[in-house]
Amino acid sequence: MSNVVIVGVQWGDEGKGKFVDLLAQEIDYVVRFQGGNNAGHTVIVDGKKAALHLVPSGILHEGKICLIGNGVVLDPVVFVEELDTLIGQGVDVSPNRLKISSKTHLIMPYHKVLDKARENKLEKGQKIGTTGRGIGPCYEDKVGRVGVRASDLADPDLLKAKIAAALKEKNVLFTALYGIDALAVDAVFDEVMAVAPRIIPHLTDVSSELEQAWNEGKSVLFEGAQGIHLDIDHGTYPFVTSSNTVSGNAAAGSGVGPNKLDRIIGILKAYTTRVGEGPFPTELNDATGELLRTSGGEFGVTTGRPRRFGWQDIPVLRESARLNGLTDVALTKLDVLSYMDEIPICARYELNGQETDAFPFPAVLPDAKPVMTAMPGWKCDISGVRKWEDLPEAARNYVEYVEREIGCHITYVSVGPERDSIIIR
Ligand code: GDP
Ligand code: IMO
Ligand code: MG
Repeated sequence: MSNVVIVGVQWGDEGKGKFVDLLAQEIDYVVRFQGGNNAGHTVIVDGKKAALHLVPSGILHEGKICLIGNGVVLDPVVFVEELDTLIGQGVDVSPNRLKISSKTHLIMPYHKVLDKARENKLEKGQKIGTTGRGIGPCYEDKVGRVGVRASDLADPDLLKAKIAAALKEKNVLFTALYGIDALAVDAVFDEVMAVAPRIIPHLTDVSSELEQAWNEGKSVLFEGAQGIHLDIDHGTYPFVTSSNTVSGNAAAGSGVGPNKLDRIIGILKAYTTRVGEGPFPTELNDATGELLRTSGGEFGVTTGRPRRFGWQDIPVLRESARLNGLTDVALTKLDVLSYMDEIPICARYELNGQETDAFPFPAVLPDAKPVMTAMPGWKCDISGVRKWEDLPEAARNYVEYVEREIGCHITYVSVGPERDSIIIR
């Protein structure tokens, strides 16, 4: 099988974990390349549910090698907790099958404190609604060239010096601006050093590992986190995460050339959800939205927050196809829409009296109105369907409509959370 990138094409939680797990059957390596434990990827195998935040979702397949690339931000304490959970479930997470790039930046305790203090201080309307996991502050330090890298764990003097330098600045913010306690250098150092021996054996050069894999004829899956509209450049800025979520970052975030990215699969939910703050033009704030949120199980895997619910947004999907260079698409959660009389879809936007196929730029988004259309519903249970021709005609029409509008083949239609609840076209 060729190398595959999996990305979310909306605002996250499209079902990436399920597809990584599904496709990992035919793949040798699975690599995370951006984000951190803001992600929550659900995998259900034999009725058992696993929620993965940092460890690639291929870990549940015996024999697959899982890598965490340089583009990820890794909370060492959370990583060790996740290891212990997986060990408790009998999963092999030994250093020869789960490896971390030495260049990966570490989320330090002060990043989490800063993330939460900032969010608390922001006025309503300005809050991002972050996961509070320290993602933004860690990427800031990385770009500011004062970050802590995983390799620093093996050099305690350097690590301590970096912590001391960071706290010199951050403690001023904590005490003077946010009115919270300063952090002590030794306490932070001890917290991180306590888990260092569990992490150091996993460190490697991910870029070279991948080169070797290809020399041996192996295939690689790059597992994206979040979704296109949470991308730091292309999303609904500033209500975004702090990394590039687009497929191109699979190369930079793991240390491979872009020519290695053969197939780019966008994971697309049959409707839209969003966690946290920010514009969401097709959002539904009524009883139907509440009902679909509940029947779709739309509650955050990481924070438990109810996900905001809205209709499919074709301009978002078109933009995602372009920005990611999608080769094909997996449509998930079609089963959740099964009892609707009709399925509303945002086909275009109206802006200043004119209709446009493009998703409006965030600055003018408040003035833009979704132009809605609707497709007939199918009003029956489709969760047991495994063949395209067995889907009701109305369900096929809905899939084909989305496919035509975004100009990208929908190869997979998912009709339930389990690995085998899938129609391959
Ligand atoms: P991710 O972050 O993109 O990996 O997605 P999440 O795991 O956060 O959220 C997707 C949720 O939908 C999980 O609970 C999955 O088990 C579930 N899921 C995935 N595909 C389907 C599907 O086709 N139908 C239903 N009903 N649930 C699905
Ligand atoms: P997966 O990989 C949905 C959202 C947060 C917030 C914004 C910024 O499971 O799809 P951050 O903590 O990253 O600084 O928060 O991004 N967010 C996600 N929403 N799914 C995710 O990941 C998300 N990761 C971050 O809710 O709005
Ligand atoms: Mg998720």
